[in-house]
Amino acid sequence: MTMQRELGATGLRVNAIGLGGMPLSISGRPAEQQAFAVIEAFVEGGGNFIDTANVYCLDDDDLGHNERLIQQALDQVGATGSVIVATKGGLRRPGGAWITDGSPDWLRQSCEASLKALKTDRIELYQLHAVDPKVDFRRSLEALVALKEEGKIRHLGLSNVSQAQLEQALNFTPIVSVQNRCNIYDPRDVRNGMIEFCRTRQVTYIPYSPVGGHHGHHQLAQDPLIRQLATKYQVSPHRVALAWLLQKGEHVLPIPGASQVASIQDSLRAVESTLDTEDIATLDQLPGR
Ligand SMILES: NC(=O)c1ccc[n+]([C@@H]2O[C@H](COP(=O)([O-])OP(=O)(O)OC[C@H]3O[C@@H](n4cnc5c(N)ncnc54)[C@H](OP(=O)(O)O)[C@@H]3O)[C@@H](O)[C@H]2O)c1
Repeated sequence: MTMQRELGATGLRVNAIGLGGMPLSISGRPAEQQAFAVIEAFVEGGGNFIDTANVYCLDDDDLGHNERLIQQALDQVGATGSVIVATKGGLRRPGGAWITDGSPDWLRQSCEASLKALKTDRIELYQLHAVDPKVDFRRSLEALVALKEEGKIRHLGLSNVSQAQLEQALNFTPIVSVQNRCNIYDPRDVRNGMIEFCRTRQVTYIPYSPVGGHHGHHQLAQDPLIRQLATKYQVSPHRVALAWLLQKGEHVLPIPGASQVASIQDSLRAVESTLDTEDIATLDQLPGR
């Protein structure tokens, strides 16, 4: 069974379940061969949208780790060009910390390093990782638009933004996607209207940490309600969480992370389940974190 999502109104269509690359490159990352196997399993399972960032790495000395890994893995399986690799700029990792830097200089430097790491002339989707409170948002956007005009970026996306920031950006330049944290335990963007707003503006909504996050996902398997629904639909608890997101709209493109082949193989099958309306309503009412 296939289910697709269009990126914004670009005509670019991808499988409705993407792969989040972060667990393959941050602290606790798997051996390289296992990371390759995860990416290969994703592509073999029909996946063709991978989310990464220059900062999916250990620290500033390791920037681009995840991008290089993905590029090598896709090259190895002959899938370069048939998979959209969406990356991001706007953070730094000094000593392993995560800090924002949305300055025009850093965005340019990051984008150019990402082009090299991904061995490409143009990044299909480049996302501002987060709005930097120290930099006028407009200046960060202008820097990204300049890179787009130079042909280094095809489409622009935003991450970790409010609806007001998205509206401000849309008034300035086309934005095809928003990537914010969203899962059954953190449904803020379901409740505050952000997902619906994205739909009306033809902006693809990319929920990150869709099964609860790098560590938080373990909660799913212990949650009595999720376990009950998993039994009812004969799927894993993770697939219940992903099916709930997929049913939030045809513009919703979850990007579950994985460091094990079995995890991404299971996540890709989330498109096979349709949750009943009353089960969706029950999940909608779960207390947020
Ligand atoms: N824009 C941002 O600021 C931001 C922030 C965080 C994340 N992200 C992006 O969003 C992606 C996803 O978020 P995330 O990795 O934090 O959290 P997540 O996708 O909610 O959880 C990832 C973990 O859940 C487990 N998992 C996923 N699907 C599973 C399944 N079907 N069965 C069993 N286990 C499963 C994996 O375990 P195993 O490791 O055991 O396979 C994986 O490590 C990231 O990889 C990254 O690309 C973006």
